[in-house]
Amino acid sequence: MAEIVLKDVTKRFGAHLALDKVSMTVPDGSFVVLLGPTGAGKTTTLRMVSGLDHPDSGEVYIGGQPMRGLTPAQRNVAMVFQQYSLYPHLTVRQNLAFPLKSPLLKTPPAEIERKVNAIAEILQISHKLDNKATALSGGEMQRVSIGRALVRNPQIYLMDEPLSSLDAKLRADLRIELKSIQANSGATLLYVTHDQTEAMTMATHVGVLHHGRLVQFGSPREIYENPVSTYAATRLGQPRINFLPADIFPSAPRGAVTIGLRPEHIAQGLGEDSFVKRVEHLGDQTRLHLSFRNHDLITVTGAHTELRNGDIVKIQPDRPLYFDADGMRLT
Ligand SMILES: Nc1ncnc2c1ncn2[C@@H]1O[C@H](COP(=O)(O)OP(=O)(O)OP(=O)(O)O)[C@@H](O)[C@H]1O
Ligand SMILES: [Mg+2]
Repeated sequence: MAEIVLKDVTKRFGAHLALDKVSMTVPDGSFVVLLGPTGAGKTTTLRMVSGLDHPDSGEVYIGGQPMRGLTPAQRNVAMVFQQYSLYPHLTVRQNLAFPLKSPLLKTPPAEIERKVNAIAEILQISHKLDNKATALSGGEMQRVSIGRALVRNPQIYLMDEPLSSLDAKLRADLRIELKSIQANSGATLLYVTHDQTEAMTMATHVGVLHHGRLVQFGSPREIYENPVSTYAATRLGQPRINFLPADIFPSAPRGAVTIGLRPEHIAQGLGEDSFVKRVEHLGDQTRLHLSFRNHDLITVTGAHTELRNGDIVKIQPDRPLYFDADGMRLT
């Protein structure tokens, strides 16, 4: 069992409250993505679970056991850091083999070789196995650090923006690999990213952090469709949700100050006139940049639309989300 539970985890750095009573259950075998802007407390959360740092108050449990006082090795977690942490004087092969050479593991050399080669293959780095770690590009270093976590079989993987410096193609490949490695091994994965697609496609659950507080936890779909606040609503969705004054359309409920419309939740052809500012053909779909009563909106339409800059198109809300003066969702 490698369920991770955080209970009222609080962490201060001097006067700064980095984590404020964070409580969260990461189910065994789940893939949990933490979302939040810079400084929200994502890395700090991972460090609390890894044992690299310790809560001021509250407790972390792994598999039901309190982790207080246990080292990262005792917790059996593998972490991929935001900054690559390779041994510069070692080759890629030696870096990848390093975690397996721990005297505790007693891995036979043939087995080490087999694992290192298999991981290098997955990460598309086999041709660099004999390079020194310093003789690599940023994206290659990042893959070697992912590889060092993957060669082991820990109960828990903690990954901090592991794919951020890779190109789009490699990122798409590794997204699928990581997801299948995690699904096949049954390991629990706590993962930090700013990438919408990574969050939507890999996560079984998403935790939204805001100034060190966990403001929502649920499936990506739940958070996308039922965000608790304007803040949570903006964390998922690309292009992002549109916000307008609630009374700009008829029939806003009492107390509504803001209406939130996802790009695909703006119906076209009925309702009120809007002005087409820009048409972006993306291949599989078209983005429309609209101006509606001096507010900018982004919506999507079919790949083969005839609409052009300067056209007028009627719009009306379809599945609107309403928020109060504090940005909290009205249900
Ligand atoms: N060792 C430290 N000493 C002082 N302040 C720290 C330390 N580590 C983190 N902080 C502060 O705690 C807050 C949360 O930091 P954290 O690294 O968890 O953010 P993050 O969500 O990972 O952000 P990013 O997306 O930029 O990586 C920030 O305001 C940061 O400045
Ligand atoms: Mg961070």
